[in-house]
Amino acid sequence: MSETAKLSLQGKEVELPLIIGSENEVGIDISNLRNDTGAVTVDVGYKNTGSTTSAITYLDGEAGILRHRGYSIEDLAENATFLEVAYLLINGELPNSKEYEEWDYQIRHHTLVNEDMENIFKAWPTGSHPMGQLTAMISSLSSFYPESLNPNPSEEEQFRTIRRLIAKMPTIVAMLHKKNAGHPIIYPKNKLDYVSNFLNMTFKQVTEDYEIDPIFVEAMNKLLILHADHEQNCSASTVRIVGSAHSNLYACIAAGIAALWGPLHGGANQKVIEMLEAIKQDGGDAKKYIAKAKDKNDPFRLMGFGHRVYKNYDPRALIIKKSCDDILNKLGVKDPVLDIAKQLEETALADEYFIERKLFPNVDFYSGIIYRAMGFPVEMFTVLFALGRLPGWIAQWKEMRDQGQPIGRPRQIYTGYTKRDWTARALR
Ligand code: SDX
Repeated sequence: MSETAKLSLQGKEVELPLIIGSENEVGIDISNLRNDTGAVTVDVGYKNTGSTTSAITYLDGEAGILRHRGYSIEDLAENATFLEVAYLLINGELPNSKEYEEWDYQIRHHTLVNEDMENIFKAWPTGSHPMGQLTAMISSLSSFYPESLNPNPSEEEQFRTIRRLIAKMPTIVAMLHKKNAGHPIIYPKNKLDYVSNFLNMTFKQVTEDYEIDPIFVEAMNKLLILHADHEQNCSASTVRIVGSAHSNLYACIAAGIAALWGPLHGGANQKVIEMLEAIKQDGGDAKKYIAKAKDKNDPFRLMGFGHRVYKNYDPRALIIKKSCDDILNKLGVKDPVLDIAKQLEETALADEYFIERKLFPNVDFYSGIIYRAMGFPVEMFTVLFALGRLPGWIAQWKEMRDQGQPIGRPRQIYTGYTKRDWTARALR
């Protein structure tokens, strides 16, 4: 294959180097395009633009393939613990037994947060959305750990911040859940593993014993793994560009949480359940809502469907859909919206509009049904997505910093007024 692409522009011929990835993806390196031609490229929404090379996650949207550091999402979801996947994403390899024991020990022994964090909560009006609360809480960690403001942290300083984020985010998420419910918080326990500790802090009542259900642990572990990373999605790109300014990692993760909140991104999992509930209230007619989704004059969009990269079934959605039936049966939960979701999927996948546009269920379509069966309020669903995505964001940030990438600063094509003279207000 030729190692360059030729561009003919306004009488000029330039050769652009190719970047060939380990899965034979082809990128055209335009690092010197403006110097060589005076032109820039424009790609609104970055649908055809790679922002970086990366060795963390590989997606094949056409084939519905997702791998982290070479391991398939199916293998990881079936065999790994979430902490193992976090270690893999951040460090590049699965931990051996000794490494895992040390990683697990480090996380278990850094789960407490400064007691003053509870005071921050008092500032929020009742009914505040937990994604806004989480953004603020994670950003506030830089106040409790001011050494994190060092723009060029050493390996050891990076590890301390990474360990604090992975260890403390479950504690913060559970705290938000309890405080928003008006309940006393439950403290972490070092003797519990990562997922059991999170479930205990979330669902134990201070007045009662709480028996950790292995079905919940298995389901939560799998859901966290399925959300762990997804290459250069909107929130990961946000983390990278904030990190490229050498902002502290807490600020970068807070920015990623803010981006994930959007209903077109991670916020979709909350919107899916609200959509399914509305369809149920309206009689559960899937065909009526598929027609609305296709109608350009109707603002209704089938939330949890479609994807920028996947033009096949999102492999995560397949795993979650399978787990849905299994977990709800094990929990003895019958959720009528699951049947509505399946009817919507069946109708959509047989409909020319969805087939032509290659719209399939994505990770958000079924996940909320499991979260709800486990007892999470719908406002917490995107917070759970953020909890899963945390190691992916950290891995993306670390790769960007380790590669010494420059500050992200895209160009533009100006289409406004050309130069014009000032006119006094009286003459306008
Ligand atoms: C996530 O990037 C990632 O990797 C994200 C993520 C991750 O793990 O980080 O996978 C997580 O964000 C999943 C996506 C969650 N969002 C939703 O479920 C919201 C509903 N879906 C969409 O709004 C949409 O599909 C996006 C935002 C996901 C993708 O949008 P694109 O790539 O910009 O595509 P588009 O909006 O231009 O749609 C292309 C066509 C359009 O029709 P035409 O203009 O060509 O006629 O498909 C239509 C759209 O109208 N379309 C839909 C649709 N999604 C796209 N029509 C009805 N219902 C939908 N859900």
